[in-house]
Amino acid sequence: VNNFSFSEHRIMKNNDNAKRAAGVAAANLIQDGMQVGLGTGSTAFFFIEHLIQRCKEGLKIHGIASSIASHELALKGKIPLLDMESIDHLDVTVDGADEIDTHKRMIKGGGGAHVREKILACMSHEMIVVVDETKCVERLGKRPLPVEIIPFAWHATERHLNALGYRGKWRSASHGKMFLTDNGNFIYDIYFDSLLVDPETDNEKILGIPGVVDTGFFLGIAGRVIIGYADGRTQTQ
Ligand code: 5RP
Repeated sequence: VNNFSFSEHRIMKNNDNAKRAAGVAAANLIQDGMQVGLGTGSTAFFFIEHLIQRCKEGLKIHGIASSIASHELALKGKIPLLDMESIDHLDVTVDGADEIDTHKRMIKGGGGAHVREKILACMSHEMIVVVDETKCVERLGKRPLPVEIIPFAWHATERHLNALGYRGKWRSASHGKMFLTDNGNFIYDIYFDSLLVDPETDNEKILGIPGVVDTGFFLGIAGRVIIGYADGRTQTQ
């Protein structure tokens, strides 16, 4: 079985070249002996794919995945994997973003994995962010903000969010049921009326609501940001 059949069967999207360029550049920064957090999403996919290639060529690392999907990809590619109970820090986590602003503040969670992603990023000496150029914005808020919510509290939490002026939609799965995260929770995607002036305050207000597990805001977490372009160039900030 070809471990990479997923990549070959993916429908090429316009910005796949840019995503691949960023992912490959990040994988080339990984060094022998590192404990590496593996992000989730289509850009992180290219990172993991190239990391698998480098491991086949002799790179010796251990990884830990931020989602079941990334875990399965790494497992198929035979990256030696760690479990959370066996580690207290990571050298680096490499992950994508839905939006990143000029202060390296991000919205993540388009794939619904932001809770585990944030846990790994915050255990890491550095979070390297891999994005295509379309993710770079002056101010956050054009894309919805994913908020992971405990199912028991879904109704109360939505009312609470709405009372604070945050309105959105419950994320649904393809079969019409509620989307479930790898943690068994729901996602409420908040849509903002205007671009955000003070995401830190929005983050605090939302995190203060009982039932909220975490938001997709990543504030003060990003280290280097590798931006990929359609022509295959990358720029590191
Ligand atoms: C998943 C994430 C992803 O990193 C984010 O959605 C970006 O994904 P992609 O690289 O596919 O555009 O936060 O929860």
